[in-house]
Amino acid sequence: KKDMYILGIETSCDETAASIVKNGTEIISNVVASQIVSQKRFGGVVPEIASRHHVEQITLVIEEALLDAGMKPADLDAVAVTEGPGLVGALLIGINAAKAFAFANSLPIIGVHHIAGHIYANELMQRMEFPLLALIVSGGHTELVLMGAHGSFKLIGETRDDAAGEAYDKVARVLGLPYPGGPEIDKLAAGSDAEIKFPRAWLEPGSYDFSFSGLKSSVINYKHNLDQRGEEINPAHVAAGFQASVVEVLTTKALRAAKEYNVKQVIAAGGVAANRGLRASLEKAFQEKGIPFYVPPISLCTDNAAMIAAAGSAMFTEGVRGTLAMNGKPGMPL
Ligand code: KG4
Ligand code: ZN
Repeated sequence: KKDMYILGIETSCDETAASIVKNGTEIISNVVASQIVSQKRFGGVVPEIASRHHVEQITLVIEEALLDAGMKPADLDAVAVTEGPGLVGALLIGINAAKAFAFANSLPIIGVHHIAGHIYANELMQRMEFPLLALIVSGGHTELVLMGAHGSFKLIGETRDDAAGEAYDKVARVLGLPYPGGPEIDKLAAGSDAEIKFPRAWLEPGSYDFSFSGLKSSVINYKHNLDQRGEEINPAHVAAGFQASVVEVLTTKALRAAKEYNVKQVIAAGGVAANRGLRASLEKAFQEKGIPFYVPPISLCTDNAAMIAAAGSAMFTEGVRGTLAMNGKPGMPL
């Protein structure tokens, strides 16, 4: 059987990325151009600026992915690109580059859901086993997804307000830490010798949904009260307390869902899955229950195109094909 090579392209937010993946499981090249330096100046992602960076980078990043792999377009079987969700201007840069590349080289094009990509990052490490539970925690998402088979996704819980990563970034800003705040809070929490107790948002009994805006408000109120009394805040204690609340809720709900749906495997994905406190807590909880649990390495947790190529490979194998009429879908359902 002939090997399959898929070019993945990802531009849904602030990383311009291209990657070539072999047979859906092996990374041949993986190029990511980050805009973090630019965002630090603005304290976050500015959609219009993100689009401009993508325009400047996209052809270079695709060329580099081919060069690193030592491959020509004719060696590829298809192009997979993030179709949504994400910033529409940013998505369109990747989609149009993918269309032009696919048309010029007579290749099929496949539209990939960004979250499916985050989940399929795990296929680059080990084979998925179904039913599978995925916890996706990133700057834009906090979701519990049940998969019965390749390509079959059922959303069982999601955030009702802020995404987990968004809460990390906002709390970090309150503490005067640079963007992106997740890794900064991670560091402070890991080195802290105490934690401030903040509330946990469990929502209705049985719900797999999440809410983080109340927690964020508690941190803001806590700081406000200290400021009024003229007292100094201890950022490490606050970071540790905030993270403890996020980690406890995510771990408890993921564990309950894994048991209720009797899953064979649990995976975590998205930028916040890089968090050391969360990884340790999930690892411990699932080990105790004897449920296999996996998290991809940090470089595959944050946005990248290898995950899009991996998800695109599974779709390609199932016969899914897109058309050159593909458009960006900012609110694309899973
Ligand atoms: O998946 P990702 O790269 O982009 C999105 O699709 O959103 O996730 C970025 C998010 C940011 O909010 C960032 O602060 C957070 O992931 N993040 C972390 C850590 N590393 C990145 N949050 C907590 N702990 C970390 N170590
Ligand atoms: Zn992402």
